[in-house]
Amino acid sequence: MENRIDLPIAVIDSGVGGISVLRELIKMMPEERFLYFGDSKNAPYGTKSRAEVLEITRNNLTALQKRGIKALVVACNTATSAAVRILREENPKLPIVGIEPAVKPASELCESPRVLVMATPLTLKEEKFKNLVDRFAHKGEFIPLPCPGLADLIEKGDVEGEEIEAYLKNLFAPYFDQHIDGIVLGCTHYPHIREIIDRVWCGKVAILDGGEGTAREARRRIVAADLLRHGEGEVEIVNTSSDEKMIEISKKLLYR
Ligand code: DGL
Repeated sequence: MENRIDLPIAVIDSGVGGISVLRELIKMMPEERFLYFGDSKNAPYGTKSRAEVLEITRNNLTALQKRGIKALVVACNTATSAAVRILREENPKLPIVGIEPAVKPASELCESPRVLVMATPLTLKEEKFKNLVDRFAHKGEFIPLPCPGLADLIEKGDVEGEEIEAYLKNLFAPYFDQHIDGIVLGCTHYPHIREIIDRVWCGKVAILDGGEGTAREARRRIVAADLLRHGEGEVEIVNTSSDEKMIEISKKLLYR
């Protein structure tokens, strides 16, 4: 049996979104082995019910545990709100780290910031998001902006495409003439299109995501569990879709 410390850290998402978190994890822990599990077959999660996302995430974790993993990073805001609390209860020995929209750092942007929070419809509907905003409501205004269909466009891999630019212009149209200080990318797919978001806002707003904070928290948990590895880092990417292009797209997004 392989030494536990040498087992991979699993990083899961509904597809290629969590690659934006994997990039931060590799920077933070370059000597780890990472197993990236993109569930494109079941994407998108964000327009499913909480029960469906919980069931899918639980099944994916069971499959990963059969392969052998030492920790789990749920690199998906939607699956984090729907499943992480329950998965932690069900797997008390496994370090499980989730991600949440970067509302806290956004609350510190300036005095009383006005912030748009882009995320999937399910993330924004969940109790977890409401509690998060309630905690920081005294520091600023956080306007939820559901983005149904946006993760699907990003899954196609054309992250510079006109289709995405048109989607974003339409999404932000009611806000262009308002005072906005920041935009939170509350879905791990969206950092892949950060440049277009910046462009459509002419570089005038701060753009924040939770990737780096999640990677920092993952490292802290791995160190606390005495599981930090020393050796040559490694990344394996698997995807549940039968479309081989998904691996290619994942690699393109990871190494661009
Ligand atoms: N990447 C996911 C998130 O962070 C969800 C995308 C989706 O499958 O709808 O919320």
